[in-house]
Amino acid sequence: MTAESVATGAYLVAALLFILSLAGLSKHDTARRGVVFGIIGMAIALVATFWLAATAGWGSPAAMTGLVVLLVAMIVGGAIGLWRARVVAMTGMPELIALLHSFVGLAAVLVGWNGHLHAPELVGALRDIHAAEVFIGVFIGGVTFTGSIVAFLKLSARMPSRPLVLPGKNILNLGALILFVALTVWYVLTPSLWLLIAVTVVALALGWHLVASIGGGDMPVVVSMLNSYSGWAAAAAGFLLNNDLLIVTGALVGSSGAYLSFIMCKAMNRSFLSVIAGGFGIEAPQSGDAETGEHREIDAESAAELLASASSVIITPGYGMAVAQAQYPVAELTQRLRDRGVDVRFGIHPVAGRLPGHMNVLLAEARVPYDIVLEMDEVTDDFARTSVVLVIGANDTVNPAAAEDPSSPIAGMPVLRVWEAEHVIVFKRSMASGYAGVANPLFWRENTQMLFGDAKERVEDILRVL
Ligand code: TAP
Repeated sequence: MTAESVATGAYLVAALLFILSLAGLSKHDTARRGVVFGIIGMAIALVATFWLAATAGWGSPAAMTGLVVLLVAMIVGGAIGLWRARVVAMTGMPELIALLHSFVGLAAVLVGWNGHLHAPELVGALRDIHAAEVFIGVFIGGVTFTGSIVAFLKLSARMPSRPLVLPGKNILNLGALILFVALTVWYVLTPSLWLLIAVTVVALALGWHLVASIGGGDMPVVVSMLNSYSGWAAAAAGFLLNNDLLIVTGALVGSSGAYLSFIMCKAMNRSFLSVIAGGFGIEAPQSGDAETGEHREIDAESAAELLASASSVIITPGYGMAVAQAQYPVAELTQRLRDRGVDVRFGIHPVAGRLPGHMNVLLAEARVPYDIVLEMDEVTDDFARTSVVLVIGANDTVNPAAAEDPSSPIAGMPVLRVWEAEHVIVFKRSMASGYAGVANPLFWRENTQMLFGDAKERVEDILRVL
């Protein structure tokens, strides 16, 4: 049995484990198992790759240097990965993921360039296919690289989240795509270096522009779209390196990322095609800030009284609950109210927080029973029959402007219709707007009262009174 056939077998097993991992990750109760499958798959893949490299040229100085480089890269990369994963806060996850996607993009660009500089001796159709692989790999990788960096900068507030609106931005994007197709044909006919430089520059600029043109509220879809691009970039690198596992894994990431983007687009009422084109929903005139009104405040005692006399309560958590780490007192409040016979449920918006499933993870961590944690569609008709809604650190996801003001930047995005309840209590620290930077008329509705302060402290105050 040759080293290659053993490695191919190991790659197949790893690919199967990755598929099992994805299947496991799709449900709460099997998610942990899914992660374990992923870890084992990746460990097998790494060992097989190392072994393949070790047996390929054992003894030859070039191969030995390669092995040392590989080993050092694995150790340094693994150490940095472990350290980041341990220290990253849950709320910092999306930006970390965006940064990791940029590495995949950069790797695909480097592999593509290597494929040009060390092109194998090929003739005829095989040479053309190789040239196309180099070019497409560099293009997808370049777009993913700069797109992910902009996403990282926006998510970590190092760059303003408002969209960049260049004149004729759609023409620019379309022009870049047409240029890419034309350059690809040219490169396949005559693979010269300047064409590769040109496509690299076009791809880097396009990636930057695509994501910079997208407004804050639409970033979740962009992150999952970049996830998908990074998968295709890895698959393109897999074709160049002749590595089946990279092709399979890349295709898995690419297709699952695309499907996730599709689901999120549906949930946010956005068109899938316009996301891929970049910068959707920007034409709407910026409004929202113009409308202001009087808000009313409530203190923890009165809030506790209101809750104690309520028959039904819906809690809609958002990013602020994650920042305040308020899920534990919220879970305790839920338990107390249920013990008093109050019907308590949670309404979870698909993009509440900063990553898909963010709120579900926090509530599961605090041991809130799954059966009272409901998706937006499951509670949407119930608000009108609810005595009190507690909006805990949520803002954009409960903004009535999305439903009622066609000129709002988040118009059309489905929101939790909390304002239909008898009473709404909003937990936040100030009158500041949410992630999308849009004013929220919920705060000055007749039935809304603001409970200012850190969400965790305020919920604990209510618990004390109860
Ligand atoms: P946001 O609209 O981001 O609002 C969060 C609110 O929490 C803020 O208004 C803030 O108000 C409040 N807050 C912050 N810290 C707090 C604390 N310690 N105690 C109490 N309140 C606190 O939240 P959302 O409703 O969850 O919406 C999510 C937004 O993020 C959407 O626009 C979504 O598109 C975007 N986004 C989502 C994702 C995913 S996949 N979920 C990824 C990226 C972006 P104060 O500052 O006044 O306290």
